[in-house]
Amino acid sequence: MSHSSLLFSDALPDAIITLPHTDWATPFESAVDAIDALEQGKVLFLPQLAFSLSAEEISLLTPTLVDPKRKNISYQPQRDKLSGIANDAHNQSDIAAVRALLQRHYQQCQQLIDHLLPAYRDHLHSPTNSLRLHPIAEWKAGNSWRKDDTRLHIDAFPSRPNHGERILRIFTNINPRGESRVWRVGEPFPALAQRFVPLCKRYHPLTCWLQNKVGITKTYRSHYDHLMLQLHDAMKGDPDYQEAGLQRQIAFPAGSSWICFSDQTAHAAMSGQFMLEQTFLLPVKAMKTPQHAPLQILETLLHKPLV
Ligand code: SIN
Ligand code: FE
Repeated sequence: MSHSSLLFSDALPDAIITLPHTDWATPFESAVDAIDALEQGKVLFLPQLAFSLSAEEISLLTPTLVDPKRKNISYQPQRDKLSGIANDAHNQSDIAAVRALLQRHYQQCQQLIDHLLPAYRDHLHSPTNSLRLHPIAEWKAGNSWRKDDTRLHIDAFPSRPNHGERILRIFTNINPRGESRVWRVGEPFPALAQRFVPLCKRYHPLTCWLQNKVGITKTYRSHYDHLMLQLHDAMKGDPDYQEAGLQRQIAFPAGSSWICFSDQTAHAAMSGQFMLEQTFLLPVKAMKTPQHAPLQILETLLHKPLV
């Protein structure tokens, strides 16, 4: 699929807001209200916010470190729980080094939140971060269309319903060869919701209750969670939308970071390798402008509560 002809550089001119931060811990005066921009579904792009790695850490950057059954190495800092490392291909010192790297990354993300998004500080919860070592072209080849993140989509977790809570993600390109991570960013959430909600399959509360009982989902999948999964699938499953939907491309250089609410901002990862990613959840009531939350957009569209 070629998108090049449609990726006008002037499409969605406001979708990406650039900020000048050069480090994670120093407050930076800026005219941009970062929270307003994020809550409107924009991507905050910090071209000079790099994450430094030691020479030893750079030597860990190889896909063979990842368990072949998993997409990424992930870490839950509050439980010090590391998962997704291959069983062979490494030794105990590699595991300790990855753990320390992800712990340090989490701490730096928290420092960034403290001064860039201070109103969220006491409300963000369930942090998980990941070390993504595979080239995007490779995971595209090995996956079904539903798992193909080179197609525009919003994030929704099939086994972890979040009942409307927001998914905030901080990404950093750590490619040691200087390769960019290239994304496409799509139209605003209200527009995509209007387009795809009429195509969503009906919600079956009893089926969702059963899925929770037998452990397919960790908690009960609400009507909201059902719709978000349906939107995710409807977007990925529509080749015309992928090709001709309103979108723009952006290359995030090695040594840059970017932030978005990935449950709201339509995105697709097109190329690149080696990234750090930090996820937090945020309750809708902790937002400054909850009317922009996908939950409220969908409730307005459907005229009923969804959680
Ligand atoms: C995604 O969340 O769709 C993937 C983002 C990335 O790996 O760059
Ligand atoms: Fe995604």
